[in-house]
Amino acid sequence: MKECVLVTGGAGFIGSHTAVELVNAGYDVVIVDDLSNSDMNAVEGIRRITGADVPMEVVDCCDYHAMSEVFKKYNFNSIIHFAASKAVGESVVKPLLYYRNNITSLLNVLELMRDNGVDNLVFSSSCTVYGEPDVLPVTEQTPRKPANSPYGNTKQICEDILRDTIAAHPQIKGIALRYFNPIGAHPSALIGELPKGVPGNLVPFITQTAAGLREELSVFGDDYNTPDGSAVRDYIDVTDLAKAHVAAMARMTEGRSKSGYEIFNVGTGNGLSVLELVNKFQEVNNLKIKYKIVGRRAGDIEKIWADTSYANKELGWTAKVPIEETLRSAWAWEKNIRNIE
Ligand code: NAD
Ligand code: WQD
Repeated sequence: MKECVLVTGGAGFIGSHTAVELVNAGYDVVIVDDLSNSDMNAVEGIRRITGADVPMEVVDCCDYHAMSEVFKKYNFNSIIHFAASKAVGESVVKPLLYYRNNITSLLNVLELMRDNGVDNLVFSSSCTVYGEPDVLPVTEQTPRKPANSPYGNTKQICEDILRDTIAAHPQIKGIALRYFNPIGAHPSALIGELPKGVPGNLVPFITQTAAGLREELSVFGDDYNTPDGSAVRDYIDVTDLAKAHVAAMARMTEGRSKSGYEIFNVGTGNGLSVLELVNKFQEVNNLKIKYKIVGRRAGDIEKIWADTSYANKELGWTAKVPIEETLRSAWAWEKNIRNIE
């Protein structure tokens, strides 16, 4: 019998791509999403790409009663918990929303796992837990720094909740994946990133500028201690990232975990500066976007990239998609949703 995976936040950017890879890998998938930051088009996209009639429950993970009905309706073997609010800037203005949504949803999932005998959880963590690292690249042993936003703090708190819950309930296994900077879209251009309002993240801002929705990109800072002065990040293709979830899931269900709670960095291991990324985007898509250099953005770090050797070895997973292809897919998706030829 096929294993059944609950994907919370499965209509979102990373969740939708992961749902596709799970179906491709032979899992049954059920999506729970309250559509607070997504819409049904993503679910339609998943169904079109996979040809599977993936069930979707419009439910808020913070609603314990509604979630318990979902657990009664299906027989889950595992859960991937993406559902969360994720805008760093908004979290500074609305900390209570972030603490309530991100923490309550995880607590509900864990209580329902405990009470329904569901044993495997993959949790969406973030490289934000490292803050500005003293040594690069960062390994999973690199100490976490105090969070510099309520959003970052929710990821640290959720990691700790997971660790403590698994220590007390050893039948539950968990893997926290610390994502670096996910970008790009599915090669079909049927699913991708769809931020509401003005994008806070770099690549959606670039694609929206190329599409004419934004006048000009602001590059935040050219006075960092980096080769060209702009900030450096580890940009990972969203399909590669999605596949890391499938590898993590299989590790737990096949009994290969080394301990109840494990943490993996999920990045490419390569650092790219903002200006390098902008130039590559223009080059591979054969277009120009208007940009200007402005001051640094408050709260930004200078540089970070991952040491991925632990994930490569233990998950048998490596990021494969070249950045050029990722930047082409990002633009193909933007063109598709804006009806640009
Ligand atoms: P996203 O906003 O596109 O997806 C999250 C989905 O969860 C959305 O569809 C939203 O409607 C849903 N959701 C939010 N709260 C919910 C709730 N209470 N109940 C049900 N559904 C709810 O974001 P994403 O980029 O796909 O991020 C997925 C996860 O990965 C999040 O936990 C995020 O914090 C984490 N993460 C994202 C990044 C990134 O740069 N995108 C980096 C590191 C970690
Ligand atoms: C990348 C670089 C900006 C927009 C955020 C979260 C982090 C994680 C990933 C969830 C930075 C620069 C951006 C623009 C720019 N998310 N930039 N002009 O800040 O590395 O990480 O997303 O866990 O927690 O903080 O990603 O895409 O916002 O920025 O110059 O209009 O692009 O300054 O150097 P970031 P980002």
